Amino acid sequence: MTTRELTLPTAELHLHIEGTLEPELILELAARNGIALPFPTLELLSAQYEFKDLQSFLNLYYANMAVLITEADFADMTRAYLGRAQAAGVRHAEIMFDPQAHLARGVELTTAVDGIVAALASSEAEFGISTGLIAAFLRDESEDSALEVLEALLSMGAPIIGIGLDSAEVGNPPSKFVRLFERARAAGLRLVAHAGEEGPPSYVVEALDLLGVERIDHGIRSVEDPALVRRLVAEQVPLTVCPLSNVRLRAVDTLAEHPLPRMIEAGMNVSVNSDDPAYFGGYLGTNFEALETEFAWGASVARTLAGNSIRSSFASDSRKSELLAELDSWSAAQG
Ligand code: ADE
Ligand code: ZN
Repeated sequence: MTTRELTLPTAELHLHIEGTLEPELILELAARNGIALPFPTLELLSAQYEFKDLQSFLNLYYANMAVLITEADFADMTRAYLGRAQAAGVRHAEIMFDPQAHLARGVELTTAVDGIVAALASSEAEFGISTGLIAAFLRDESEDSALEVLEALLSMGAPIIGIGLDSAEVGNPPSKFVRLFERARAAGLRLVAHAGEEGPPSYVVEALDLLGVERIDHGIRSVEDPALVRRLVAEQVPLTVCPLSNVRLRAVDTLAEHPLPRMIEAGMNVSVNSDDPAYFGGYLGTNFEALETEFAWGASVARTLAGNSIRSSFASDSRKSELLAELDSWSAAQG
């Protein structure tokens, strides 16, 4: 997209805050916390960012989290994301974090939550971005582990709006987490899950039918099942698609072959998101730019995608109306 279009007002609905940890900040936090890294220079670390699949990325993503020790580390990471998101036109962000990944390293839940929340607390005033925090559970861990951590988050009064399901998908179907999602629903939380990123379309069906999720993160493999596509269109289930992530993790061979154009054409409720922008070549603006370069869609498709993101968010009705009005103004300015 052109520079003008970078300020398209959007909601980012699929973002792992730990995936915004840039190599420069990893080195800075390692120095601050006295942590010896396996790849201690920018050159050595940056050379690790070639992935052959989701797992090869997850290995580096979890390893790099070792530098997150104090509340200030989590706050600095979150503030850095908000600044970049603001530049990309993000006006509302629903941000996932991986509590189990921090607990496994001996970092207390309160350290991670309080650090992230401290940055989110000033987000509207500082960056003009309204936010919501989603606790994502690792599907390659047990359901009991997830339940224990959810209970801990609830009893500490963590200001989460919902739960998600992430990490290694294949072999860890949504059906493994029925009790977790029942508990979260009973606690009044919103429900999302990664499905159909590397896993089959049946995982998308399970996430909807067994977990009762309100949004599917990724969902790109849904296009392999025509009956599922018809259902997703009929029910207008939001799918938070992450184009650059899918290319970098080889879920698709090239951006040109990405199913997003077919999904839009079919009338699916898709939005564009950056997933783990520090790892996949860019933030939301870069995702839109890459799509524009590849598909030359112009303003009307950008408007559809941004409108979908705002309507599919868990923002208040008044915030959604405000952002949709901004989108109208943006459209009018496109001529
Ligand atoms: N955790 C962080 N990014 C992820 C992704 N793209 N898929 C699954 N788990 C993740
Ligand atoms: Zn993700």
